Amino acid sequence: MSGLFVTFEGIEGCGKSTQTALLKKRIEAEGRKVVVTREPGGTATGEKIRGILLDPTNTEIKNVAELLLYAAARAQHIDEVIRPALASGAIVICDRFADSTTAYQGAGRAIERHFIKQAHEIAVRDTWPDLTILMDLPAEYGLERARATRELDRIENEPLAFHRAVRNEFLRVAEHDPLRVRTVDATRTVEELSETIWRIVEPHLP
Ligand code: TMP
Repeated sequence: MSGLFVTFEGIEGCGKSTQTALLKKRIEAEGRKVVVTREPGGTATGEKIRGILLDPTNTEIKNVAELLLYAAARAQHIDEVIRPALASGAIVICDRFADSTTAYQGAGRAIERHFIKQAHEIAVRDTWPDLTILMDLPAEYGLERARATRELDRIENEPLAFHRAVRNEFLRVAEHDPLRVRTVDATRTVEELSETIWRIVEPHLP
């Protein structure tokens, strides 16, 4: 038996977490088992790594160390949670995954593309999502929304140019992999987005 692996991606304040919860509800209403998880995190080890990565006082973390910490959390997450859940036939919904590394560490931190690819080869191997919803919106809107709801973490505190580069890289990933990555306009209302996302996901449910 094999489930379905769906990921949500996008810049800060794009509304992924809200849509993750709404999609979970809709799939559960169809009587299916859903596992909702997130990156970095999703396991005890991953949540500890998340603490290191997002702590605003950890100003000394170097770019390659950051890349490897995200990859380490991901490797643990895949083996401990994602693969077993998919093998049991569950629908796995993950709030951020490897495309975030491509966008944030690849474009935001400007780490060379072949290093990003190697990190994916080690951490992700063949566990790529079946479907990725990219919630796209201008970086300034997203940051404004994020700022209105919480204290910004270490990555969110990066300047606007960083977040613009991240957004552009997400769009580039979507352009290169249009069958897997579906872009939605995240400036629309929560209800409109939920409908659009459901129309994308429902035909893929096993
Ligand atoms: P979140 O706030 O959406 O939970 O994501 C945590 C932060 O980590 C967010 O600023 C994006 C960043 N991030 C990366 O830089 N690389 C990654 O691979 C992942 C998964 C997240």
